[in-house]
Amino acid sequence: MTRRAVIAGSGSALPRQRVTNAELAERVDTSDEWIVERTGIRARHLAAPDETTATLAADAARAALDMAGIAATDIGLIVLATATPDQTFPSSATKVQAMLGIDDCVAFDVHAVCTGFLYALSVADSMVRTGVADHALVIGAETFSRILDWEDRTTCVLFGDGAGALVLKAEEGTRGILATRLHADGRHNDLLYVDGGPSTTGTVGKLRMKGREVFRHAVVNLSAVLGEVLGAAGLEPADVDWVVPHQANARILDATAKKLGLPPEKIVVTVDQHANTSAASVPLAFDTAVRDGRIKRGDLLVLEAMGGGFTWGAAAVRY
Ligand code: UT7
Repeated sequence: MTRRAVIAGSGSALPRQRVTNAELAERVDTSDEWIVERTGIRARHLAAPDETTATLAADAARAALDMAGIAATDIGLIVLATATPDQTFPSSATKVQAMLGIDDCVAFDVHAVCTGFLYALSVADSMVRTGVADHALVIGAETFSRILDWEDRTTCVLFGDGAGALVLKAEEGTRGILATRLHADGRHNDLLYVDGGPSTTGTVGKLRMKGREVFRHAVVNLSAVLGEVLGAAGLEPADVDWVVPHQANARILDATAKKLGLPPEKIVVTVDQHANTSAASVPLAFDTAVRDGRIKRGDLLVLEAMGGGFTWGAAAVRY
């Protein structure tokens, strides 16, 4: 029998404040019509000062532990994906560890921007399969509202804050994470980046994006990596019950599905309610679809994401 990392539970957390496009249009030169037509986004949640990446992550983790029926003290590994940590250091993973009352486990952050959750999942999967831990928390959490330029309408309308978490459990059998594939191409650093950092400007900086070029790369890279991960798992697109994609733009989701010949009703779409929450978007979408009954035990899922770097990746999972 093969030791695999099985998804034992999921959870998510959103900031209290929900902001619709119409509300945003009161302070930014934009319109509900433009945002919906170009992106499919209708609302996003924005964090208040007392809501941080780590507090949202801890809330999502508690919900995931609860669903899994696993005590926080049984967790041996926390991998947290974020590009917006509470502080430059310590890692947000260790902050979440303390909030959950775990005295000793492996805990660290990974940083691959919007692909962060796929990187975190792949790392945690390897560590669970090789016996580093029997139970792991994999979290994607972001507060992108803190790095948005609210004067730049081409970016500030696109993002939201939130967190999602999965509990992975080592199990012998056929379900669990079947395959993961990760990529990066640093030649495209300048298409999506933050114009600050501790080692350069000494400031946090603001997000900058050449949206149209990112869009073009996203469709090509995502359809390629989805094909790749299905091949690695010995599966065909027709075997897939649900695609759980990074939620950047409804048009990217449609175009990617079409390229793979996947019907739109198999794509989990939450971008309308959450906007782009970077590393949080895949686990947030996953948890939403589990809790509303779309994703069921035994379903074959593919998770995918693409983001700054560029980075991109996918995972095939038997839930
Ligand atoms: O998570 C990481 C991955 N990120 C992504 O995948 C994002 C990928 N890119 C996209 O989703 C799209 O490219 C955007 C949604 C960012 C932009 O959509 P677009 O169809 O590529 O629009 P555009 O940037 O070409 O802008 C079209 C027009 C421009 O006006 P002109 O020059 O044609 O007169 C913009 O000034 O829309 C204007 N515009 C806006 N108008 C109202 C740009 N932003 C806004 C806005 N409200 N918020």
